[in-house]
Amino acid sequence: MEICVDLKNSTIDKSEIENRRDEARSLFQDIWEKKLSYCGWVDYPGRISKSLVQEILDTAAKIRSESDILLVLGAGGSFMGAKAVIDMLEPPESDVEIIFAGYNFSARYVREILRRMEGKEVSLCVISKSGTTMETLTAYSIFEEWMKNRYGEAASERTYVITENTSNYLRRKAESEKIHCFDLEKDIGGRYSVMTPVGLLPVAVAGIDVQEFIAGAAKLASENAFTEANLDYAIVRQKLYGVGKNVEVFESFDPYFGYFGEWLKQLFGESEGKEGKGILPYTMTFSRDLHSMGQFLQQGTPCFFETLLSVDDVEGGEALDYGVPNTALESLAGKTLNQINKCAERGVFDAHVKSGIPLVEISIPKQTPYYIGMLMYYFEVQCAVSALLAGVCPFDQPGVEAYKKETRAHIQELDARK
Ligand code: PA5
Repeated sequence: MEICVDLKNSTIDKSEIENRRDEARSLFQDIWEKKLSYCGWVDYPGRISKSLVQEILDTAAKIRSESDILLVLGAGGSFMGAKAVIDMLEPPESDVEIIFAGYNFSARYVREILRRMEGKEVSLCVISKSGTTMETLTAYSIFEEWMKNRYGEAASERTYVITENTSNYLRRKAESEKIHCFDLEKDIGGRYSVMTPVGLLPVAVAGIDVQEFIAGAAKLASENAFTEANLDYAIVRQKLYGVGKNVEVFESFDPYFGYFGEWLKQLFGESEGKEGKGILPYTMTFSRDLHSMGQFLQQGTPCFFETLLSVDDVEGGEALDYGVPNTALESLAGKTLNQINKCAERGVFDAHVKSGIPLVEISIPKQTPYYIGMLMYYFEVQCAVSALLAGVCPFDQPGVEAYKKETRAHIQELDARK
């Protein structure tokens, strides 16, 4: 595997890991053979049709040619994957700004976006698998009004919808207004949908090579990719949970990691956090958070383990590096930022290993669309197998209905008060 997973500092014995390998492998086989519902994502990178990829590329080219801003409306899995990829990989020369909304009810947030859209050419992409998510549809109605005021009937030609092919509110609206609609397969849940048009369209508009992104995932998306030791990370997570490590701290030394961390939090949190079980996913970006949470990690309650995400050849190597001038502190002068960042990464790793914190290190050779695609697919597989090892279904989210029901009740009360 081109992803390197170092488990030797995980504190879990090799023999304990080996004991669960057959079980993990058989659970992966169940996913691969789609014996459970919502496993459509597992072979998707290898079977996505050329015509769909072309449709995405053509649409992205149209959006890029006529827009300064692409406003993407979506919540949870309908935006986080795309935002994660764009934040980490967007080329500096990209001249279309991608703004994400439709995942909160904040008036200030909407007002700020409306301000940013003044005088700009805008396209709109509305993403909701169910076609019923309140945050997304509320934002859609506000921004649709703006689009209609600005472009009149042509607004629908600058609007794109990605939803399931069922008769949901969003699809009915898209069809009645002749809006370009991308289908989302029923058997792929939101948090596993980054390789579908949900992730691919915004990522393509940002100027990122989606074919490479898919190719990286497709390299792993085969029946035989997860044999032998390749599911050990999932096993180690469950072993650590079994000895009271209830929190997993995902960490990176890339300041653009923030939304990748949010994507991981959603993937693991929504997949595993049920039936009173689950490892709480937490994220830290270093070296910023070393100055706030470094103390806790080193000497606080030992309730966690760390998963360090590392890139061997940072930011494309020397070409994008900066030398530290000779006027700097003596020990730093003449080094480059990438060299110093790597030293910080190795220093933190060594210090945490010495203090006995269980540590997993997952590295990719380069931060490119190919390897980020591969890494995201790797995490999807590990997450699904890990949840199944814990005895919970990775693909549902029954708990989120409770808050939606209570929210709707409060909204109805507003009507009653009129
Ligand atoms: O992973 C999931 O299924 C959820 O987080 C959804 O992505 C999120 O709730 C948004 O749902 P929808 O795409 O139906 O608007």
